[in-house]
Amino acid sequence: MNYINAGPIKAAITGLGAYVPNDKLTNADLEEMVDTNDEWIVSRTGIRERRILKDPTKGTSFMAIKAAEDLLQKKNVSPSQIDMVIVATITPDMNVAATAAQVATQIGAVNAFAYDLQAACSGFLYGMSTASSMIASGRYKKILLIGADKMSSIVDYDDRATCIIFGDGAGAALFEASDSGFGWEDEYLRSDGSGRKFLNIRAGGSLHPTSADTVRNKMHNLYQDGKTVFKYAVSEMSNATEQIIQRNSIDTKNLKYLVPHQANKRIIDATAKRINLPKEKVMNNIEKYGNTTAATLPLLLNDYEEKLSPGDKLIFAAFGGGFTWGAAYMTWAY
Ligand code: UT7
Repeated sequence: MNYINAGPIKAAITGLGAYVPNDKLTNADLEEMVDTNDEWIVSRTGIRERRILKDPTKGTSFMAIKAAEDLLQKKNVSPSQIDMVIVATITPDMNVAATAAQVATQIGAVNAFAYDLQAACSGFLYGMSTASSMIASGRYKKILLIGADKMSSIVDYDDRATCIIFGDGAGAALFEASDSGFGWEDEYLRSDGSGRKFLNIRAGGSLHPTSADTVRNKMHNLYQDGKTVFKYAVSEMSNATEQIIQRNSIDTKNLKYLVPHQANKRIIDATAKRINLPKEKVMNNIEKYGNTTAATLPLLLNDYEEKLSPGDKLIFAAFGGGFTWGAAYMTWAY
């Protein structure tokens, strides 16, 4: 049964691009910075290293532009053909002036409109829903969706509970009308604002404008109650994934890959276990990038692109700040 694409146009991902900075932050580096150790980090999170955009003059747009250019070059698409650019991010270059507008202009997408989408670690998942719907509407032909985050700009490197998890990176996907019948099949997306007390950046918005106090109290850094977020993430990612499996009558034997947000290897494993999926059917690159927030899903797709064939069944799942979460079903189109 098809819940989403009732109309005649089905959207599909037709190209991918990615960028991660060269500089690595390893577990050994973190041992020098906070009271932690490689064994704890690997066993509790599965992460060995992350990439960090060290240049202080460069923001998230730098990585988003690189990922978009990688895609355009690989696909041989002219930027002037792009109708829309969406950047999913929680680390925009600036609070006002959309990072997506900067990206669109810098890549030469002169005929596009552009805006940012903020749904934390679910940003790319929600963005796929938006891009697919826009394509399915028939009004737009080529949409560039980018997930990009410079997490190092908001992480407190004195807080061992958060600084070990996050890294920087960007990934891009091109959405077009499918010519194969494969593409976006279904989505189950939810949010719960009561979760914001467990995962947030408290200040810098209208509720707590920037002041000397907010800076002194580190209210501009990412705060996370890890244990609570972990619990919700396992339960909601699993529930959403099960919903998608049930209502699309997917036999997991025929599933090519689960594409889970890379927050913690234990969350990924628990989600896979709930649906009895062996680990070779679970996309995974957390070991080398950590949690890149909105960039995890496109970075996974980019890493596994060569292994994908038309018709492969993929289930995406994510959970993040807000809270925001969900799962989606896609058949791969190329
Ligand atoms: O991406 C979107 C949303 N984010 C997530 O989904 C992340 C969800 N949360 C997590 O991944 C995990 O909760 C963390 C990795 C953040 C923490 O792992 P945990 O297994 O939940 O650890 P914990 O917070 O329960 O702490 C266990 C112990 C504590 O010590 P005591 O109180 O038992 O003595 C912590 O102080 O581990 C200690 N600890 C550390 N030890 C060494 C916390 N961080 C560290 C550390 N190194 N980096």
